[in-house]
Amino acid sequence: MDRIRIEGGRPLTGTIRVAGAKNAALPLMAASLLTDEILALTNVPEAADIATMARLLDELGVEIDGEAGADGTPPCGPLRLSAGALTATTAPYDLVRKMRASVLVLGPLLARHGHARVSLPGGCAIGTRPVDLHLKALAQLGAEIELDEGYIEARAPKGLIGAHVVFPVTTVGGTENLLMAAVLAKGETVLANAAREPEVSDLANCLCAMGAHIEGIGTDTLRIQGADRLHGARHAVIADRIETASYAVAAAITGGELAIEGVALDHLDAVADVLAAAGVSLEARNGAIAVARGDKRLRGVDVMTEPFPGFPTDMQAQIMALLALADGASMITETIFENRFMHVPELNRMGANINVHGASAIVRGVPRLSGAQVMATDLRASFSLVLAGLAAEGETVVNRVYHLDRGYERLEEKLTGCGAVIERIRD
Ligand code: UD1
Repeated sequence: MDRIRIEGGRPLTGTIRVAGAKNAALPLMAASLLTDEILALTNVPEAADIATMARLLDELGVEIDGEAGADGTPPCGPLRLSAGALTATTAPYDLVRKMRASVLVLGPLLARHGHARVSLPGGCAIGTRPVDLHLKALAQLGAEIELDEGYIEARAPKGLIGAHVVFPVTTVGGTENLLMAAVLAKGETVLANAAREPEVSDLANCLCAMGAHIEGIGTDTLRIQGADRLHGARHAVIADRIETASYAVAAAITGGELAIEGVALDHLDAVADVLAAAGVSLEARNGAIAVARGDKRLRGVDVMTEPFPGFPTDMQAQIMALLALADGASMITETIFENRFMHVPELNRMGANINVHGASAIVRGVPRLSGAQVMATDLRASFSLVLAGLAAEGETVVNRVYHLDRGYERLEEKLTGCGAVIERIRD
């Protein structure tokens, strides 16, 4: 298993270009199942999860052009997806277990083909993460759903029928699955308490380009008029707001100064507010975001994760690494996932002073961290350990790098280009 070795203590300076958003690209790729014409996606990130989705779609019979996923390597360049004739409607356990977002093929398969068999995802490192809300909502659209030998067996032989769905909890994947089902359902569907994440809006905009009728994009109420069929389209994936914010924290934690290119600043308000309160400036300059901390010590800030437009749970681990070095205490409360503090013991091994009480972590700032061997448990937790390593005195080795490869494109290359001393050790 690959590891990453970092020599800490070097301020990052220079320019980093962020990739397209993995969490937008995954549902967009699944949307190719909704049409027999070509869906051409640009700005797709080179991340392992994209390769996994490409493999899944390939198993279903989707033709993918763009060096997609050969021998498990991430596809690069634009992707052309063509779901002319499908050869299967089953998402097997091995792929769903590897990547929960595989469940996003459920809605489109059911809507266009009247049948889908998708493995139940089960638990994961950050919590139980059920898909009950996806299933209840699809049942409201007339799907017959059974659980059979660990699989979701969903049928809609006469097609789906529009309905009024109220999500009891905001769910990003649930909203995306339902959107993809509703665009081909008969009549009107209303999705209330829908997730407002920019990745959901990106999917909705692409579906509209494919001929879907969706109102309320960007709000918590989506109104969809079902169409008989969708057609092909070209679509550019939005920039990755989490990658952007992760590199903003890299600049701040090392006391450096970075220009981050290719980003949408309006998706980052909540993160920018927290960074500003901690003493980090973020400003739009020449089409990029300029991030700088200056010489002053960081200040402690309280942070609570919330659905968009609140502070993203996918930035909780990274902001914790930063606040571990702040002057004073911070309280970080996780409201989305019940078990997302697995990075805490690892940060503490590097000298941080963090205590978890239920859904909150009390972070008492320390003046310095020291390098150590650490182990990552999920994608964002891994990046928080890289951040801590960049700021720490001495050498840090982050084990289980495959987590990072799932969602961060060419991480070592981007950081090395800004003065970090970081290398991959291949075992
Ligand atoms: C997506 C993102 C993930 C991010 C999360 C929250 C992708 C591929 N992943 O995950 O990076 O951390 O949004 O912003 O886009 N829930 C249920 N039942 C369900 C569905 C969800 O109880 O049927 C719960 C979950 O356990 C969780 C909460 O709802 O506690 C939010 O989850 P959800 O928004 O669905 O996350 P994902 O779509 O899985």
